[in-house]
Amino acid sequence: MSNYSEESILNYLGPYKGDASAVLRSLQLVQELLGYVPDSALDLVAKNCNVSRAEVYGVFTFYSDFRSTAPAKAVVKVCVAEACQASGCASLISELHDKGYDIHKGTVKADIQMEQTFCLGNCALGPAAMVNGKPIGRATSASILAAAKVAAK
Ligand code: FES
Repeated sequence: MSNYSEESILNYLGPYKGDASAVLRSLQLVQELLGYVPDSALDLVAKNCNVSRAEVYGVFTFYSDFRSTAPAKAVVKVCVAEACQASGCASLISELHDKGYDIHKGTVKADIQMEQTFCLGNCALGPAAMVNGKPIGRATSASILAAAKVAAK
C-alpha cells in the first residue's frame, strides 16, 4: 500500500473508529491519502467502521470517483453533461480522441489520464474540464492538454 502501513492508515481513520455511518468518508480519506483505494484498504475500512467488507465494497463501487489503481500524474475530467453538451463538448471530445485520448475509456497516455464526468459545477463556462482538481472553463483540447502536460511533469 504505497508508503503507508496498515497501522498508519488505521491511525488516519481513527476519528471514525466504530462509526458504521462513516464508510463513505473513510474511503474518501484513504483516496486522499494514497490517491486510490487498494483492495486491502477495503478490509481496513470495514474493520475500522465495524461493518462488513461487503458493505464497504458496495459503497466503493457505487461512486465512480473511487479508484482501485494508482492514477496517472495528471487526471483530466471532461464534463459530458447537458450544459456542456450545449456549449460544444462533443467537438472537444472528438479533438481529444483524435489526439489519442478516449475520455469514455479513461485513456492513459504519457502520464495523462482522461475521463468523462457529469457536471463539474462550472456550467456557465462550458465546455468544462478539470486537471488535478483545477477547473478549466471554455475548455479546448489545447488548453486541456497544456494544463495536463504541466501537471504530469
Ligand atoms: S454541465 Fe458541464 S460543468 Fe455542469
